[in-house]
Amino acid sequence: MTSTPVATDRGIPYCDAASCARAGCTPTLCTGAGVQSNSMLFERSKRAIPGGVNSSIRAFKAVGGDPYVVARADGATITDVEGTTYFDLVQSYGAVILGHSHPAITAAVQGAAVDGTSFGAPTPREMKLAETIGERVHSCERVRLMNSGTEATSTAIRLARGVTGRDRIVTFAGNFHGATDALLVAGGSGVATLGLAGTAGVPSGAVAETMVVPYNLVPELDEKVAAVIVEPIAANMGVVAPVDGFLAGLRAECDRVGALLIFDEVITGFRVGVGGAQAKYDVVPDITCFGKVIGGGLPIGAVGGRADIMDQLSPLGPIFHAGTLSGNPLATAAGLAALDQLTPDVYIELMARARHLSALLRDACTSAGFAATFPVVGTLLGIVCGEEAGSVHNFDDAKRTDEGAYAAFFQAMLHEGVAMAPGAYEAIFVGLAHTDDVLNSIAEAAHRAAPKSAFS
Ligand SMILES: Cc1ncc(COP(=O)(O)O)c(C=O)c1O
Repeated sequence: MTSTPVATDRGIPYCDAASCARAGCTPTLCTGAGVQSNSMLFERSKRAIPGGVNSSIRAFKAVGGDPYVVARADGATITDVEGTTYFDLVQSYGAVILGHSHPAITAAVQGAAVDGTSFGAPTPREMKLAETIGERVHSCERVRLMNSGTEATSTAIRLARGVTGRDRIVTFAGNFHGATDALLVAGGSGVATLGLAGTAGVPSGAVAETMVVPYNLVPELDEKVAAVIVEPIAANMGVVAPVDGFLAGLRAECDRVGALLIFDEVITGFRVGVGGAQAKYDVVPDITCFGKVIGGGLPIGAVGGRADIMDQLSPLGPIFHAGTLSGNPLATAAGLAALDQLTPDVYIELMARARHLSALLRDACTSAGFAATFPVVGTLLGIVCGEEAGSVHNFDDAKRTDEGAYAAFFQAMLHEGVAMAPGAYEAIFVGLAHTDDVLNSIAEAAHRAAPKSAFS
């Protein structure tokens, strides 16, 4: 763990209220000079933002304590407002793949910003990004860009229902598709971390036509089903591979009853390979949802699919979709810059790094007597804690992870300078900034952290 002074001249709004005037801040510009500590700043955030976080998944409720408050990030590291630098295994929950503040992304965003940040009219960059997605993910003859993965999954559901004229949606326990009402049932990620079966505020009507079935088993469908939505590699209940025949079986079963198959590739898209999980497993969905990597770390989402399906979206068809900031110039510039770097060789390298980190973390935990496994699926890496855990194929298996042990490991790793996600069901994200030196430093931290986790 290193401590470096936090720059105070970047206008980052993080100084303490009482110090603002002394620090020369105005109501809309903070110099940062008044910052005292993560906890003071977080206290102030909690007065303005529910729970102090703008995404529940960022809360430390499951692991204890308050979050570090990020001032800046660079490559594989993030630095909090106290000046503490951590190796970052969160990487914005997979939105960042080149590493933080990558020069290509920064230049693309700056270059786009000087030409204007949003127009409410078509732009060349959105055309190019949609084309690029379609060229690499062959099932996507047309692509509609939007602002988040959540918007992508909710649009995909509306599209599938509109195209088929059916209402029922089949989803898998432990998969997570964002904060989409119809899919907030038995979800993974934050829904699992926070111990929610679903969520208050979703009317029973919104989930009345949602059927939840176990992951890795092909359900028997009927003609009421509009669509099956699946994470082709589950990455919100740890990281769980599809068993042989699962995705192909879903394809066949959907075809049998005339239902659509939706792959939620918000995490896997452009992270596990050039063509996403659908190319890796050679199964072609009707509709694909994207987010995260295609925005290079800026807000984005996308729905892609066969032309005859996608052309049912307005303005061509009767299924409405719109968004003021959809296809945003900054997000599309950043996304294009990211995809530009993501050649096939990059994924071979990322797979090697994921395997390497898995082995390093396993060795550290084994030698300390801390029971944890680190499953790898392609470029994705997960963690399962506890003696009883065993191998994981579905959400029931995943829930055997020892959440208390994970919390202990999380805290010990943070203390040793490594930031992991504050939830036992999240993936560990390895990107291009995680060089051998970085991985070795993380391993050294794990060797110091694991013994403390074993006996806490
Ligand atoms: C598989 C999957 N789908 C959808 C989403 C929602 O994306 P967003 O957070 O951009 O709304 C997530 C978020 O983590 C996700 O992991």
